[in-house]
Amino acid sequence: MTQEPDQAPSGGEPARDSAPGAAPAPATPSERPVAVRTKGLTKAYDGKVALDGLDLEIREGDIFGYIGPNGAGKTTTLRILAALLLPTRGRAEIAGIDVVKEPRRIKELVGYMPDAFGVYENMTLLEYLDFFGAAYKIPKPKRRRVIEDVLALTDLAGKRTDPVSAFSRGMKQRACLAKTLLHDPAVLLLDEPASGLDPRARIELRELLRELQRMGKTIVVSSHILTELSTICSTVGILESGKLVAAGPVEEILRRVSAHREFVVDLLEPGDAARAAAWLQKAPGVERVEALDGSVRVALQATEPQVAALIEGLVAERIRFTSFREERADLETAFMTLTKGQLA
Ligand SMILES: Nc1ncnc2c1ncn2[C@@H]1O[C@H](COP(=O)(O)OP(=O)(O)OP(=O)(O)O)[C@@H](O)[C@H]1O
Ligand SMILES: [Mg+2]
Repeated sequence: MTQEPDQAPSGGEPARDSAPGAAPAPATPSERPVAVRTKGLTKAYDGKVALDGLDLEIREGDIFGYIGPNGAGKTTTLRILAALLLPTRGRAEIAGIDVVKEPRRIKELVGYMPDAFGVYENMTLLEYLDFFGAAYKIPKPKRRRVIEDVLALTDLAGKRTDPVSAFSRGMKQRACLAKTLLHDPAVLLLDEPASGLDPRARIELRELLRELQRMGKTIVVSSHILTELSTICSTVGILESGKLVAAGPVEEILRRVSAHREFVVDLLEPGDAARAAAWLQKAPGVERVEALDGSVRVALQATEPQVAALIEGLVAERIRFTSFREERADLETAFMTLTKGQLA
């Protein structure tokens, strides 16, 4: 069963100045209230399960990266959270409000940006935003101010009189995001906002999401692979065939997939590489050492104190180095590992 309500909330003017989540979030993640919670969330289309018992908890102020391959169930989840689609079973809440019981309040709280921009013929950007501002029942004088705010935020002020149909993909994405921000939602649900963007546009999007996070918003952003967004996500969830295969802080996920850690030691004297390699080979926790030209690569399964001991040891051996750095596994690797079911 599919619910296709109108895009805009109709419960009066959304409180732009007192939206939940507008205050800066406290420092420790566990102290922050839960912004998005799902419990056993399940969706079947014609009996075929697309989302299978999803348990999610996303805290206020988080940027949550929702990663999964095609058909994993990302869009399904986001549409349920935006109260645009009814779940088959289970619960979903935004700021403690049930998405099925109170869809109108949910639409005030969330800004949902779909993965495709609809067609709007012969409409300037200003008309487009005004149209949705009116749909959100933002009164005219305030609407003008709000539109100027979102235009500035999305860096589209210079395009206000241009027809949206003539926009490039990146500009359409930004116009769509501007529209999504009109009613000042506390929670943003962005479905693959980075897809099809060039590297510069991706960087700009990242900056924009950071800015929105600073404004106190909670952001859920889906992607096939979070290559570009991984640096800004505080937490991630990896979805495969409707099931969450891993979720948690980015660092934790990366640690779970990297059975061992890799460090590179750049030596001051390239001639020290063999001596450094020989010493490291015998150190506790070291699994593999490779002497390179002027540096040494070390693979280890070690705790933080053991890593510190390695640094102390090298210094004690008078092996002088200019850097000792960890080569981080990236989310892409994590994603590939996890979705291949390699994780126990
Ligand atoms: N309206 C629908 N009717 C029937 N099946 C659907 C419908 N929408 C989605 N599905 C199915 O549900 C599953 C999950 O789809 P969904 O669009 O949520 O995945 P996704 O993770 O967003 O994928 P993509 O990365 O391709 O956007 C897929 O198997 C898809 O075919
Ligand atoms: Mg999708």
